[in-house]
Amino acid sequence: MSTLVLGIETSCDETAMAVVEDGRRLHTNVIASQIEIHARYGGIVPEVASRQHILQSTPVLRQATEEAGIRLQDLQAIAVTSGPGLGGSLLVGVNLAKGLAFALGVPLLGINHLEGHIYASWLEGDDPERAPGFPLMCLVASGGHTDLILMRGHGDYTLVGRTRDDAAGEAFDKAARVLGLGFPGGPAVQRVAQGVAVRDHLPQARLKDRDSLDFSFSGLKTAVLHTARDRGLYPPPVGGPDPQQVAEVAAAFQKSVVASLVERTLAGAQREGARAIVLGGGVAANALLRQEMERQSPVPVLVPRPVLCTDNGAMIAACGYFHLRRGEAHAWDIDVTPNWRLG
Ligand code: KG4
Ligand code: ZN
Repeated sequence: MSTLVLGIETSCDETAMAVVEDGRRLHTNVIASQIEIHARYGGIVPEVASRQHILQSTPVLRQATEEAGIRLQDLQAIAVTSGPGLGGSLLVGVNLAKGLAFALGVPLLGINHLEGHIYASWLEGDDPERAPGFPLMCLVASGGHTDLILMRGHGDYTLVGRTRDDAAGEAFDKAARVLGLGFPGGPAVQRVAQGVAVRDHLPQARLKDRDSLDFSFSGLKTAVLHTARDRGLYPPPVGGPDPQQVAEVAAAFQKSVVASLVERTLAGAQREGARAIVLGGGVAANALLRQEMERQSPVPVLVPRPVLCTDNGAMIAACGYFHLRRGEAHAWDIDVTPNWRLG
């Protein structure tokens, strides 16, 4: 008999829910984005985010079950992101999940958001467990994290590299702000940089220690700020900055971030004898990163379609299924863990 899991994700600015069968088959994937509201403030406002989650959760749940053509009683487990993320936002999802699981009499699973990003790859193509098989070198690059995680099996993680300062997505968001491209920065930088030749090279976003698998993006962020100042793009001049100049700096920035992500991930994969690379997190939606990782990697690269890279409930449901399969379930007093790490 197949197992239907509801995945709930409210760790940041998307109220997202999905129904997944046996950890691999996506029935529906509903994502209510708050981006337009937060864009007015140039970034995510935590109090506004939690309030929006409260307003959105019932309609999103209704839409998810309707689209999947199921009743709540058909669900065999409720999986919810319980960390890391914004405390107030996480609480909305976790309390909803508790109520549902209790009322339905099914297991409740508190899922690590970063582990969820890895499991997005289980929703695409072959079963990574069978082909290419473990170990997998996973790069989770999002607005809050840039982690290189070695996955030796389900539930078996070792953190082998991480950012020492800003996360990759945060760097995209900050560069976009300096260049007047709005929020969120990743998609905006990618859009203007599309097809633009990189003439001026910004410094490589890397640490001096070449053996380390850690990342560093703060130097690059400062370089973007200086370059934008030198070219009269920042502070924004009257009439707005020159779009061609903005595109050139954006393209140079993107190239540098991608080069560093690819270099360290491939070094980690080689060092650990990984059979494949798994990409996840919002930054994995970046077209240049996907293209360069695939071009340069000697092992297969598993990368979900962009909508499964950015935050969604499907990855949480998929991940929850594999916990459930191992007989896991959480007690009703499970709390949120805003700083939860993986590995
Ligand atoms: O995983 P995610 O949706 O939320 C977090 O867990 O943080 O990642 C959001 C981050 C943002 O910083 C956003 O700018 C970045 O992912 N992002 C991108 C792209 N799409 C989203 N960065 C680069 N290129 C993209 N196409
Ligand atoms: Zn995320």
